[in-house]
Amino acid sequence: MSDQHEVINNLEDFLNKAKIEISKCETSSDVDNLRVKFLGKKGVLTNEFLKKLGKISPDLRPVIGSKTNEVKNEIQAEMNRKIDELKENEDKIFEESLWVDITLPGARREIGFEHLVKKTQKEMEDLFISMGYEVKEGPEIEDVFYAFEALNTPEWHPARDSQDSFYLESDKILLRPHTSPVQIRTMENIKPPLAIVSPGKVYRSDYDATHLPMFHQFEGLLVDRDISVAHLKGTLEYFISSIFKKDMKIRLRPSFFPFTEPSFEVDLMWEDKYGGCQWLEVLGAGLVDPNVFKAVGYDPEIWSGFAFGVGIERITMLKYGLTDIRDLVRGDLRFIRQ
Ligand code: DAH
Repeated sequence: MSDQHEVINNLEDFLNKAKIEISKCETSSDVDNLRVKFLGKKGVLTNEFLKKLGKISPDLRPVIGSKTNEVKNEIQAEMNRKIDELKENEDKIFEESLWVDITLPGARREIGFEHLVKKTQKEMEDLFISMGYEVKEGPEIEDVFYAFEALNTPEWHPARDSQDSFYLESDKILLRPHTSPVQIRTMENIKPPLAIVSPGKVYRSDYDATHLPMFHQFEGLLVDRDISVAHLKGTLEYFISSIFKKDMKIRLRPSFFPFTEPSFEVDLMWEDKYGGCQWLEVLGAGLVDPNVFKAVGYDPEIWSGFAFGVGIERITMLKYGLTDIRDLVRGDLRFIRQ
């Protein structure tokens, strides 16, 4: 008899302890873990009670067996209740986590702005378009014929040196060191009179505060009858004054370029912010050399023209008061945001 009481007491103890543990569960998976611990194949109920059933005298077995079952069912029921309760809460939390306030404003992406060099380039293009010029582009990988030979540039000219220009597979192909080849490509294809500008990237092996290995030039070419230095000077003065948005004085200094004769370095009168004035060199220009016209089959007795080439970075730096050309390519946000 005492045997039977003891087992039944133990079962009740077990039931009470199980109920307490179940009540402490905070998540449904905590309850699932208890299910394994209490009722699983290697759980408390199996180990402590079911396995021992065989050792109990046969007349006591039905009573204890049914009590064991009762305890098992009750634990099971308690767990299901707890799970229902926890699940309800968990579902609510899950649903809440999915909720989005569709009335909130979206994530704003900052819109960038045009690079200063491109901006200056477009201003220059627009200006020349307004004067009736057409914009023409040429390849950045260029043949020495267009880069030098047709431009009357002798073999010994420093620009042809591999120290200064980036040659590709052979000494016949290079990254163009200036935009002047577009003069030739244009004249080969269209008959005079013509007026074009050609902006684009050019390459030279230079790198310091005023030189980049890749920079932009803006080439101009006008071919017509009876073109003189006066036309060139008037055009450049108008160009420079328009870009800097005030009347600017320029001066032409005699110089040498193989593809123009006469040739000039063009300076502008620059007033610094302290009221000082100085001549600054900004571009190269001249009247098209007769040999260039011959190279493209234009009759130099009939046709004359002027040409010029200007660094877009140079104009940009003056316009925005920059002192180091490398700031234009470093991508330093402190610079870019200014
Ligand atoms: N191609 C010259 C350079 O890169 C610039 C230049 C000078 C262009 C005179 C011209 C010109 O069209 O007439 O230094």
